[in-house]
Amino acid sequence: MAENSAQRRTVIKTKHAQCTIYHYGAHISSWKVSGKEVMFLSKDAKLDGSRPIRGGVPLVFPQFGPGEMKQHGFARRATWTLKSQDSSEEKASATFSLAPNEVTKEISQGIWDFDFGVDFVVTLELNTLRTQFIVNNVDTKEMKFTCLYHTYFKLKDVGKLQIAGLKGNTYIDGLLEKKEFKEERNFVTISENVDRIYKDVKYPVSFHSGVHIVSIDSNVSDCVVWNPWIEKAKGMSDFGDEEYKNMVCVEPGACTKDVCVAPGESYEMDCTITVTSLK
Ligand code: BG6
Repeated sequence: MAENSAQRRTVIKTKHAQCTIYHYGAHISSWKVSGKEVMFLSKDAKLDGSRPIRGGVPLVFPQFGPGEMKQHGFARRATWTLKSQDSSEEKASATFSLAPNEVTKEISQGIWDFDFGVDFVVTLELNTLRTQFIVNNVDTKEMKFTCLYHTYFKLKDVGKLQIAGLKGNTYIDGLLEKKEFKEERNFVTISENVDRIYKDVKYPVSFHSGVHIVSIDSNVSDCVVWNPWIEKAKGMSDFGDEEYKNMVCVEPGACTKDVCVAPGESYEMDCTITVTSLK
């Protein structure tokens, strides 16, 4: 079958690492360091542009979650343009851009009518993956949005997961009528469906995946932790019934408060993920 534009991918490589980015959603689907995969990608993910890719790093913009617009906005449903690409043995990067197009307009018309330009820069260096999500307000009015990196990480065993860096933070529990609670644990563990937004997070947030120590650094202040667990996994057509055991979403973002950008100004959401191999 002929490849459609949504199936187009760019691969960037250094001598240490490799990253695959689908142009549909400017979606990182794989990041391998010394040959070992860091990202979770569902075996049932649709990779033909018919729906957002289940796994990797879906880009959430300009709306996090359900709302007036489609769930998580249009960025992960639109095909982006590869602007530039550069690589050497030590460092590789690719820049994608998105401006209003048929897909973004269809999803946002009458709800979020802004003239915008977004650049998404992916950089590999040694054992780090840096992403920069840069929103330019090219409109004449103030722009408001929420955004997030919906990062899916591959785990050997979710039962052994311990996420550090969230102790003392307030979280909104999406499964308990959005009530707020304080995280008292040193390590967040997962043994059921979890859907929480941790607020006022001081990154890094880190965990062991069973293969790597993963450390997430970001300039945002929210962090969603999500695992669908047994029943929800069964209800998702693009996610295997047993795959909840081998993934977790730890999602840096600006999603509890609108980001406001004046005309002519920009906003940048940054994230650097560093992995260290476990012996
Ligand atoms: C998380 C949300 O970020 O994304 C969850 O907190 C949601 O509520 C999950 O279920 C997956 O969303 P989607 O649209 O990719 O199925």
